[in-house]
Amino acid sequence: MDTSVTPTPSSGAPAPILAVEGLTRRFGGLTAVNRCSFRIEVGRITGIIGPNGAGKTTIFNMVAGALPPSSGRILFDGTDVAGLPTHTMFHRGIVRTFQIPHEFGRLTVLENLMVVPAVQPGERLWRVWTSPARVRRREREVRERAEETLRFLTLWEVRDELAVNLSGGQKKLLELGRAMMTEPRLVLLDEPGAGVNPTLLLKLRDMIRHLNRRLGYTFVIIEHDMDLIASLCEHVIVLAEGSVLTEGPMDAVRRDPRVIDAYLGGGEEGGAPPPPAPLPPLPPPAGRGTRRGSGGGASPDGG
Ligand SMILES: Nc1ncnc2c1ncn2[C@@H]1O[C@H](COP(=O)(O)OP(=O)(O)OP(=O)(O)O)[C@@H](O)[C@H]1O
Ligand SMILES: [Mg+2]
Repeated sequence: MDTSVTPTPSSGAPAPILAVEGLTRRFGGLTAVNRCSFRIEVGRITGIIGPNGAGKTTIFNMVAGALPPSSGRILFDGTDVAGLPTHTMFHRGIVRTFQIPHEFGRLTVLENLMVVPAVQPGERLWRVWTSPARVRRREREVRERAEETLRFLTLWEVRDELAVNLSGGQKKLLELGRAMMTEPRLVLLDEPGAGVNPTLLLKLRDMIRHLNRRLGYTFVIIEHDMDLIASLCEHVIVLAEGSVLTEGPMDAVRRDPRVIDAYLGGGEEGGAPPPPAPLPPLPPPAGRGTRRGSGGGASPDGG
């Protein structure tokens, strides 16, 4: 049961598609996400950065419905959806990709896209079932959409390959493709660049940009690749130890001494002195993209 909530009026700013307020998640004695509040504007590409263990994936898990918050609100289009399950969030138009890809290895690349649930927001399952002609038409539409998506992602040549045989980068593209099979209102990408070779990374960046500028997709991207974030995101949220440290344009946050300090593992009183500007790129975190799975374990289709 979700309750409608009047969105907080803001000074002429457009209503956010997503607003989290005081979002908190504890695992036993560990507070992974601690009273986080931020807003995601529609039509934007927003970045979320922060050191390993800052709570980034846990936030995605809660927004996507894979993990209930301990407390706080998640307002999607002004309605509190905190605690609703993955399939409900999926049907409302929130899709996510995973830090470690969740492809169906024993299905082909094309099949991986075709099994994405066909029910779009607003479409009723029983209507699809009532008429065989409708089912056939629906199947044809799904196949056409899947084929079009694979051409766009330059995965057409490997469409009949088992997904398990794809490279790490191709699996990331396939995850993006699964998101594209729906009419997503909000796409959450968890480290899309992790384990992707530089050539494919440029391609992935251009695809994300195209989906945003041409098709109006709203993205939230968790990334450790600061160049990818800088080139895609006009707004960046920095998390540290479960809380929002600061947010703003990338060139401002990457010069923020508190951000540098968080990445370098500072935090002691009177710790590192403010670094001179301009600063080199932030150092890559240890074990990038190779950590354990990202918690919730749910796929975009709730399985
Ligand atoms: N299901 C879980 N059970 C217990 N602890 C968890 C669980 N999921 C995450 N954590 C812990 O919560 C903290 C935040 O983890 P999270 O995966 O959200 O970090 P992250 O910012 O995504 O890090 P990374 O950049 O390494 O992916 C970590 O200390 C992690 O070990
Ligand atoms: Mg993570």
